Amino acid sequence: MSDLTGRIALVTGSASGIGRASAMRLATDGADIALLDINGDGIEQTAKEIRAIGRKALTVVTDLLDRKSIDQALAQVRTELGTIDILHNNAGGSTHYKGKRGFVNATPDQWDQIVALNLRAVADCTRASIADMKEKGAGRVIITASEMAFRGGPGFTEYSSAKAGVLGFTRSLAMEVGKYGITVNAICPGVIRTPALDSFPEDAIQETLAEIPVRRLGEPEDIANAVSFLAGDQASYITGASILVTGGRTMH
Ligand SMILES: NC(=O)c1ccc[n+]([C@@H]2O[C@H](COP(=O)([O-])OP(=O)(O)OC[C@H]3O[C@@H](n4cnc5c(N)ncnc54)[C@H](O)[C@@H]3O)[C@@H](O)[C@H]2O)c1
Repeated sequence: MSDLTGRIALVTGSASGIGRASAMRLATDGADIALLDINGDGIEQTAKEIRAIGRKALTVVTDLLDRKSIDQALAQVRTELGTIDILHNNAGGSTHYKGKRGFVNATPDQWDQIVALNLRAVADCTRASIADMKEKGAGRVIITASEMAFRGGPGFTEYSSAKAGVLGFTRSLAMEVGKYGITVNAICPGVIRTPALDSFPEDAIQETLAEIPVRRLGEPEDIANAVSFLAGDQASYITGASILVTGGRTMH
């Protein structure tokens, strides 16, 4: 458990799944939390749970596909909560099993949207936060990537490309900002039981389960544990890393 008392953390995609678990965990560790998501009801629910454990929670409905919306949200967080110490770029997802499947069938718009959500928005949120971290001489940037950055998967071209791009972003930025006391790391989840799995057919889940050495799907809290560790002082010598949390399904 990290001691994050007095820190301010921002978590994107915190209405649901991994983002909600991360926000709850960082609040349990002592941080006050800014919650950004396009789903206003969802972040209000997360905020209620955070306030119930005595931490501050600020909700800002934000469309991460819209750069103006991101800049406005970050400005509001700065004014109402303060400057960010920990940024968890978490929102993302794929249209696999939802949109038109496969590279040949998917539209260019589908490609652009997935890359914008999973990669461009990560850069935009980081850009809007990093100057304050630089000024403080400390900061943590944590990004939810995916095991798909390493293994790929049929129907996941745009998603895998974006998540692999996130790992390049992580390494290059880590090299740039280490001298300011800022670390930048990616967490690469395997298959985690969140609402994002609702559209996955049961046979696909069962096939995946057989490939996981520890023989269970991941829980959002498994990822939140890694976020908590990377956010804390004990992780100050870890930067540019891509940490797989997959139950062993993907290794590197
Ligand atoms: N669940 C998994 O198995 C798994 C595996 C590997 C990586 N991931 C990654 O973990 C992260 C979280 O996924 P999850 O499984 O918790 O999914 P989720 O669907 O439960 O949560 C995603 C959140 O992102 C928000 N969001 C989507 N588009 C947005 C937009 N344009 N603007 C603002 N918010 C938006 C959604 O409203 C939602 O609250 C994603 O980056 C995903 O790619 C998930």
